[in-house]
Amino acid sequence: MRILIKKGLIISPNEEFIGDVFIHNGIIEAVGEHVFKEADRVIDATGKFIIPGGIDVHTHLDMPYGEIKSRDDFYSGTVAAVFGGTTSIIDFPTQSKGEKLEKTFFKWKQKAENKSIIDYSFHMIITDPSVLDDSDFKFLVDNGITSIKIFTAYPDRLMLSDREIFSIMMIAKKYNLLVMVHAENGVIIDELIKFALSKGYTQPKYHALSRPPILEAEAINRVITYATLLDIPIYIVHTSSLEGLKVIARAREIKNDVLAETCPQYLYLSIENISHGNEEDYKYIFTPPVREKINHEFLWRGLSDNTLQVLSTDHCPFNFEDRMLGKNDFTKIPNGGAVIEHRLELSFKGVKQNKIDLRRWVEINSTNPAKIFGMYPRKGVIKVGSDADIVIWNPEFKRKISVTNHHMNIDYSMFEGIEVSGKAEIVISNGEIILENDQLKAKPGRGKFIKRKSFDSRVL
Ligand code: URP
Ligand code: ZN
Ligand code: ZN
Repeated sequence: MRILIKKGLIISPNEEFIGDVFIHNGIIEAVGEHVFKEADRVIDATGKFIIPGGIDVHTHLDMPYGEIKSRDDFYSGTVAAVFGGTTSIIDFPTQSKGEKLEKTFFKWKQKAENKSIIDYSFHMIITDPSVLDDSDFKFLVDNGITSIKIFTAYPDRLMLSDREIFSIMMIAKKYNLLVMVHAENGVIIDELIKFALSKGYTQPKYHALSRPPILEAEAINRVITYATLLDIPIYIVHTSSLEGLKVIARAREIKNDVLAETCPQYLYLSIENISHGNEEDYKYIFTPPVREKINHEFLWRGLSDNTLQVLSTDHCPFNFEDRMLGKNDFTKIPNGGAVIEHRLELSFKGVKQNKIDLRRWVEINSTNPAKIFGMYPRKGVIKVGSDADIVIWNPEFKRKISVTNHHMNIDYSMFEGIEVSGKAEIVISNGEIILENDQLKAKPGRGKFIKRKSFDSRVL
């Protein structure tokens, strides 16, 4: 199939111009102000943007959570992603205690391969280093998994000790794996939780109050210190607070491979959302938690000034009835939010409000994710030779976000009523039009596993 997209505003981090894009056999074959090629399909993109498909590097699809699972699997989650303009995701296989990483990998591959409608990759979550040896890490690299994630939070479940974190970082150095960290001080948070429950403070807002921003900052500082000592890159996931941001900014003054993301929920939601004193509060429980509203402007600034390089979603949806598992105890509320569909439009609202510019919008949603996670220039850019993962974005379209018009498999929206503009009108994945006129044209399982290259600071 040959597709010629004409007269759209082609946007990349370092330029924007009105031009044409020609796609053949799934690859971008020509880009320029005037491209003359025979095509099977010509798309007039006058007044529209032509952008590289979004890359969401932080999703939890079909994720086990005690007796339940996150509500989107690799089909429904990637369908919602496409409606939002995302054409690749990176999800998180989670090592069960005692499990070898090869087994974890194939478990997640099985969840994804007959379902995902877009290309996908994995970061491996390490929870039990005691059963791992060099062969596990070699297996990851050989299979194109070039990043691992560790936790300083959730004791007894996911948290690693400082000793374990340091040894994992040493192995990561040997295999050139990018270490991603969920950074909050889990031990002290556990003490604060015990204290809250002992006083009878069981409502959702105590989820936030027992995880103060200063404990995010402390853990970020700690893991950056270890990375500095070992001279390895480090990536902080879901930065949520000014306190955390300040630590990252200070570290980046001397170490430019300290990298970090935030997510739309930290730009739009706040402690007010969980302070109604009624059942509404249960909808906004994710970790790190909602913060004071004042943090929003600092996080926007961090995205704009490159303290934060990436916007991801940490998509991990639970229905209202799932949340009710924690009706009498906030620690039993399944954590996570449904966001995968809204990343581009919620950040485009920031473009409209002059918080970030158009090129930066493309950079944080697509180009930087591809660069940092070893997919560039195959993905994340409109360039000759790149995969034809392209979104034709209508910047004029306006709507209100609502549970009645989203495609995620969840029965409420955390962003209900927020006005957004912009819409992924046509989505092309590997040269195939998979969304047009609000009609999905993609078969489950058409997405391919992306084998990624190792992190290389020179592409940044
Ligand atoms: O609340 C969240 N974020 N749930 C998903 C797991 C994690 O911590 O990223
Ligand atoms: Zn996390
Ligand atoms: Zn997460």
